[in-house]
Amino acid sequence: PTHTLLLLPGDGIGPEVMAEVEKVLAWLGANGPAAFEVTRGLVGGCAIDAHGVPVSDADMAKAEAADAVLLGAVGGPKWDGVPYEIRPEAGLLRLRKDLGLFANLRPAICHAALADASSLKRELVEGLDILIVRELTGGVYFGEPKQIVDLGNGQKRGIDTQVYDTYEIERIARVAFELARLRSGRVVSSEKRNVMMSGVLWHQTVSALHARHYPEVQLRHELADALGMKLVQAPKQFDVIVTDNLFGDMLSDVAAMLTGSLGMLPSASLGEADPVTKRRKALYEPVHGSAPDIAGRGIANPLAMLGSLAMALRYSFDMGAEADRLERAIAQALAEGHRTADIARPGEPTVSTSAMGDAVLAALAA
Ligand code: NAI
Ligand code: MG
Repeated sequence: PTHTLLLLPGDGIGPEVMAEVEKVLAWLGANGPAAFEVTRGLVGGCAIDAHGVPVSDADMAKAEAADAVLLGAVGGPKWDGVPYEIRPEAGLLRLRKDLGLFANLRPAICHAALADASSLKRELVEGLDILIVRELTGGVYFGEPKQIVDLGNGQKRGIDTQVYDTYEIERIARVAFELARLRSGRVVSSEKRNVMMSGVLWHQTVSALHARHYPEVQLRHELADALGMKLVQAPKQFDVIVTDNLFGDMLSDVAAMLTGSLGMLPSASLGEADPVTKRRKALYEPVHGSAPDIAGRGIANPLAMLGSLAMALRYSFDMGAEADRLERAIAQALAEGHRTADIARPGEPTVSTSAMGDAVLAALAA
């Protein structure tokens, strides 16, 4: 088969880490079971410079047509002054919105070689492998009314509205249950049903879907505040966690710090499955930003970007074996002691972005 892939390197270190993806894709194309048809486009500041908008209609059309989109990072001080509607992040938001990417997957994996970089003690995090499934297009970030009202007496009122419909909860829960089947078979669903009606509906809907379609998956419910506590207290008890947009935003940042480094964290955002082909629109990107402080020096850590490619192999291309192989190669490069500056201990020798990519390639080929 031939898989089509749109690469959007973006700004700052985006193009530097994307170059390592191109190396691995070339290797996989030559040595793997599938061919890749790669197209390229612009997003963020570089698109503003070229087209006056953070993503052009032509590149949006390429994104719609591709089997998967891989994005580096967007933004930087150069574009701090551009109007709000065309700021670099607006390109990323348009991609997420127009592609209908409602499911945000953020794995938090703690490699033994890096366990000392975690905010927690080694024994609590070594071997950690959590997948947070966050609802991305609903909830309090989007619900209406959303406004500041002038009350007239010198007081103002800020209003946000948490809204979830059954279908939104069902489709994100389905993603979590299906991913759990490929992993440990355990899901924790999280909300605050003790104080929120949307939480009551969330709990009911997830429970009903579970009973009807996924009885073999082990489901547990945790209130979001308690879950935050347990993530820090004993994170290894968790496998797949499914939660709403707001709680998912916070809990995934907490989980990120359990692993120690921003340069290590990949993510995927998935859309609705096509009823016939079962294909989902999908965007894969590292969690980190464009890192203007180190851009242009060839020292960025490419592992979050390469981990995002592994997720694309697994979730968009049905290449689970190759995804496992790439993730093992990443772990191997770390185990051999290769360190970019962000994950090196003081005094430890460091390698460049490209040397780290080469180390992963060598492990892949071995
Ligand atoms: P950042 O993630 O770009 O950087 C935070 C710190 O982590 C910096 O010290 C940076 O050098 C380091 N870092 C990040 N990724 C790294 C990597 N792969 N290797 C080594 N070190 C790495 O976040 P920051 O500084 O808040 O934002 C910088 C720019 O990126 C801003 O314009 C922001 O709007 C944008 N941004 C874009 C995102 C995206 O494209 N999804 C996400 C977050 C921020
Ligand atoms: Mg966040």
